[in-house]
Amino acid sequence: MHPLSSSTSASAGPATHRLRLWWRRLGRRGAAGAAAFAFALLAAAFFLAPSRDASAPSTASYPSYGHRLPTLVDLTLVAGARERGAVCLDGTPPGYHWLPGFGEGSDKWLLHLEGGSWCRNLTWCAQRKETNLGSSDHMGRRAEFVGILSDDQLQNPDFYNWNKVKVRYCDGASFSGNVEEEFQDGTPFFFRGQRIWEAVMSELLSKGLSRAKEAFLTGCSAGGLSTYINCDDFRALVPKASTGRHFWEKIYAWIL
Ligand SMILES: *[C@@H]1O[C@H](CO)[C@@H](O)[C@H](O)[C@H]1NC(C)=O
Repeated sequence: MHPLSSSTSASAGPATHRLRLWWRRLGRRGAAGAAAFAFALLAAAFFLAPSRDASAPSTASYPSYGHRLPTLVDLTLVAGARERGAVCLDGTPPGYHWLPGFGEGSDKWLLHLEGGSWCRNLTWCAQRKETNLGSSDHMGRRAEFVGILSDDQLQNPDFYNWNKVKVRYCDGASFSGNVEEEFQDGTPFFFRGQRIWEAVMSELLSKGLSRAKEAFLTGCSAGGLSTYINCDDFRALVPKASTGRHFWEKIYAWIL
């Protein structure tokens, strides 16, 4: 036998064993372990793909949706956002796209927090102010609702009739942070992600989210991280969906 092949098979055994042990340990730690594992995956995705959303060109070739074109949903700017100081990096109001639910889905809500990495220093954040990820002046006025946001029963059998909201990401830090001071090194920047979250939620609550029987908070990349940051708050804001023993079957935080 070739010396290499014997050493390979010898090392494969302990490696598999270790993996099995690790898996068993993870199982013993239960939900906490699984959550930590999910978070690690998220963090890896977040740092390995820093600007996937930011750099996606709008002219990308569209996938085929088969039988019909996706629904386009208008951008709504949050009313009174400037007065609350709940603004994008450049001081413009934040926004979201809302596709109302119907039928059985009228009192069910799926929220999706847009992703797009973080800006990690003032140089980068200054560039971001000139893009859709830092200013509603640069956001597309309509969003295609596809996949989990689709209202097509064939494409999205679980949520097609739910209220669906795509919340636009423009604070640079996963809908977190609340810096009162406007000037950083003499240049205006608004780091108000937490206020944006609160302002968007209060507007959606008044549009029916407060009566939600089921609610599903989702997000992509930096938006996925935000579901972790804000899920306790979300749970508190949607009390009707949180009553009863089977709470966690009714409210979900999900990474996409
Ligand atoms: C700001 O961050 C970007 C991205 O991480 C980096 O390429 C750049 O060198 C940083 N600039 C400064 C001045 O630190």
